[in-house]
Amino acid sequence: MLRLAVLVSGGGTNLQAILDAIESGGITNAEIAVVISNNRDAYALERAKAHGVESVCISPRDFADRAAFHAALLEKLDSCAVDLIVLAGFLVVIPEEMVARYQNRIINIHPSLIPAFCGTGYYGLRVHEAALARGVRVTGATVHFVDEGTDTGPILLQKAVEVLPGDTPETLQRRVMEQAEWKLLPQAIDLIANGRVSVADGRVTIQREADGT
Ligand code: GAR
Repeated sequence: MLRLAVLVSGGGTNLQAILDAIESGGITNAEIAVVISNNRDAYALERAKAHGVESVCISPRDFADRAAFHAALLEKLDSCAVDLIVLAGFLVVIPEEMVARYQNRIINIHPSLIPAFCGTGYYGLRVHEAALARGVRVTGATVHFVDEGTDTGPILLQKAVEVLPGDTPETLQRRVMEQAEWKLLPQAIDLIANGRVSVADGRVTIQREADGT
């Protein structure tokens, strides 16, 4: 059973998709060991509680400096014996020590087709504002492994979503969530939990199932 830590900062709709997929059997061989938020008011914490999942707030504000915050975060992850860290709208830069200790064991969902509209400063609604400003006809979402860079790690899954006339950042964000994010993230976890994903030389290989899916 793969033990997950889901790291969140806000509404937690991606966390909800994971909780639902675990309950419905869309994700097998995985359980959420802990949900960690950097933001005490994140609605994601309520979602975890409603499903009986341990949830904690570890906020940089509660520590003297960044190093102490990072140490507390790592300590919690280690004490929960986590196998996979899932960044589900976690808007904090991941400490280098964490990337090193959990190499190829951290995944992130990003609301664009990487390498478009990603990197420093591209998060949440800003990604969709940039996509609309550039006038792209297609955008989407990406699940990738986390390395030392920002949105630079090996790509696991991507799904395209159409931009429609009259879209606002909010309507586009909602469509990308519904059509891509809430499907991709549970799918990525299920693939990893069932031993179908390997990473080598910065590239991801996904093993097909015996029945060809
Ligand atoms: C999601 O759209 C996720 O892709 C994005 O934040 C949102 C969180 O929503 N993440 C990033 O932009 C990371 N760079 P949620 O709290 O409802 O899951």
